[in-house]
Order: sequence, then structure tokens, then C-alpha cells
Amino acid sequence: MEVAKRLQGVGEYYFSQKLREIDELNKQGKNIVNLGIGSPDLPPHPDVVKVLFGEAQKPNVHGYQNYKGSPVLRKAFADWYQHWYGVALNADTEVLPLIGSKEGIMHICMTYLNEGDAVLVPNPGYPTYRSNVTIAGGVCIDYDLKEENNYQPDFEAIEAADLSKVKLFFVNYPQMPTGQQPDKQVFEKLIAFARKHSILIVHDNPYSFILNEEPTSLLSIEGAKDVVIELNSLSKSHNMAGWRVGVLCGAAERINEVLRFKSNMDSGMFLPLQLAAAKALTLGKDWHDEVNAIYRERREKVFQLLDLLGAVYSKNQVGMFVWAKIPAGYKDGYAIADDVLYKANVFITPGGIFGSAGDEYIRISLCGSVERFDEAIKRIKAGL
Ligand SMILES: Cc1ncc(COP(=O)(O)O)c(C=O)c1O
Repeated sequence: MEVAKRLQGVGEYYFSQKLREIDELNKQGKNIVNLGIGSPDLPPHPDVVKVLFGEAQKPNVHGYQNYKGSPVLRKAFADWYQHWYGVALNADTEVLPLIGSKEGIMHICMTYLNEGDAVLVPNPGYPTYRSNVTIAGGVCIDYDLKEENNYQPDFEAIEAADLSKVKLFFVNYPQMPTGQQPDKQVFEKLIAFARKHSILIVHDNPYSFILNEEPTSLLSIEGAKDVVIELNSLSKSHNMAGWRVGVLCGAAERINEVLRFKSNMDSGMFLPLQLAAAKALTLGKDWHDEVNAIYRERREKVFQLLDLLGAVYSKNQVGMFVWAKIPAGYKDGYAIADDVLYKANVFITPGGIFGSAGDEYIRISLCGSVERFDEAIKRIKAGL
């Protein structure tokens, strides 16, 4: 069967394909240590699970839900934004719960892009921006994030391109995969840039609580709501990746525009899950401190592992991964990742999957126990 033209140039998601290969290797008894994917292995707070369990036992919570999400969850998101980011949002009009922020990226592309419209995407960056723009008929214009520029956009270089067709600008700080922290001055420049070129910025903000002392929203910059919509997620901050809870925040007009598409795509989330997510959003600093203490310990192990490989990295990174430059002697990140996979039975992510600017890098996820990292270190010592 011939697939639609919109899928031309869009392959199966890298991890979906690679995890099949890892399954095969596991069937052969290799017991691969998977340090690739950023799916939190730690559980949500027990009170969150308790709310889900208690609510699910009620007889009247199993129907379709409001397309805009439960008012309880919308209010919880608005309160969360006020508390942590200092951003005031109207819970009724400026908050749209999502089934994970990944689906929000697609909704936004389908809402705003006509065939041939251009979108600025980070290179390296989350591959979903690129694939969703393409599926929606848009054209990606990469903007490089370079180490020597602290992985910040080079506005002069961006302005040198033809921006006449650009409608959207994907931005993500803390940045995945580079671990770069947000910078308020850069945020201000972004707002000015978007105003100047009449571009809508989509800020993707799922990592602001992971190993990051100062959660920051691009919406906290003055005047941001005119030109910014922001995605957020409970996947990483609350160890709820499989629950699929995210949010889109922004001006009421933007929320209504995206809802026109989204309400034709899905029929909302299970109410007990929304109420449990609202509970998660009330968790305090002690929750994040506890989770981060675990990630910090793991990160020390990742540094040891990278030292063993001879990779070079900054200790200043935030988020759920460590980004590192490969040692000389390897052609690219794919070559070292394959070497580590086939000789040591450890899976790490080649940086090239995040764009060509990531070719000389690898990314290691912090989503594994200290024992798994010790095992990976032992295998690399023995195998390479
Ligand atoms: C930068 C970035 N944005 C969005 C997502 C998707 O998160 P969610 O689970 O909310 O769909 C991820 C997941 O890995 C990510 O790394």
C-alpha cells in the first residue's frame, strides 16, 4: 500500500526501530543495559497513585471528558505556573491539558502550518519537531546550537536566512540533548526576535525541574504571551511519562486555535488520571529535591563511564541526560554507540539522531539505577 506523501522523508522513530534490535539482542541472551531512552524508571509520588486508585473506583468517572480538560487540572496547572515560574495564567482560557507534550507538538504544527510554511528547528534538538513539521506539510529551517555559543541560538546567523515563510520557531531550554540551561537574556532576545519577524515561538519546557535549581518559563518574560506558547509535561518532573499528561499554555486566542484541531483528534483524558495529575502538581520542593538527589548520584556514574570512553563533557548540564563529545578515533556518535552496543552490550544514544550538529556527540540517559550504571562501567572496561 502506498503511504501518503506527507510521510515522505519521515522514517520510523529512531528509538522504535532501535528498541526492536535491542529486543532481538536480549532474546539472544545479551541483557543489554539500556542507557538510551529518557523514560523515568522511578515511580510517581505514592499520593498521586492513591488519587488515581481512589477516583477510578467511583462509578461516575468513566465517561468522555471535557475537551479542554478537567477544570481541576487546569486550575492545578495555573497554580503550578504561578508558584514555580511566577507566570499568571487564566485557568479557564490560557491552559490546555494535553495527552503528553509530544502530541501537542503535532497539534501545533497541524493548527498553524500550510504546505510550504517554514519552521525554525534546533539542531541538535528533539527529533519530533522535525518529523511533525514535515508531516504537517511544513519545511524545517535548522538553526545550529553550537558548544562555543553555549548552545544558544545565533540570531545573526538565523536572520541571514530567508525568514519570509517562517511561522513557528521551536525553542527548548533546558535544552535536550545538550543540557544547556535557560538564559534570561537570551529569552528576552527571543521575544524581540519573534516580534520583529511576526513568528510564533513554541517553547518546549519538560526538563525544568530535573537537576535545575531555577525552573524558568519563557512566558515569564514581559510581553511573552503575545508571541509565545509553551509546552510542559509531567513525564519527567513527576515520573509520569507513561501517564501521558502535558499542557499547552499561552494566550486564549492561541489555545482556542489549537483546540480547534485537538478537539477533532482526541476526546480528552480519563478523569481519575487528570485528578491524580492535579495532585502531582501540588508536590513541593522536597519531592523534586528527593528525585534530583538520585539523578545527581547517577550522573556521577555517567561521568565515570564517559571518562572511561574518553568522551568530553560539561558538568554544568541540567536535565535528564549527559551530552558528551566523542573521543578522536571514532568517525561519529553512531560508530562509538555501535561499538559500545556490540562489544559491551550497553546502549547509548548517538548524538546524530538529534540533527547533524550532534554527529560528534553521544547522549546518556540518567534513567537507570546506580547498579545498572556500575554494570555498564564493568562491561565497558571489559569489552572495549
Ligand atoms: C525535548 C522534549 N520535548 C518533549 C518530549 C515529550 O514529552 P511527553 O512525554 O510530554 O510527550 C520529550 C520526551 O522525551 C523531550 O525530550
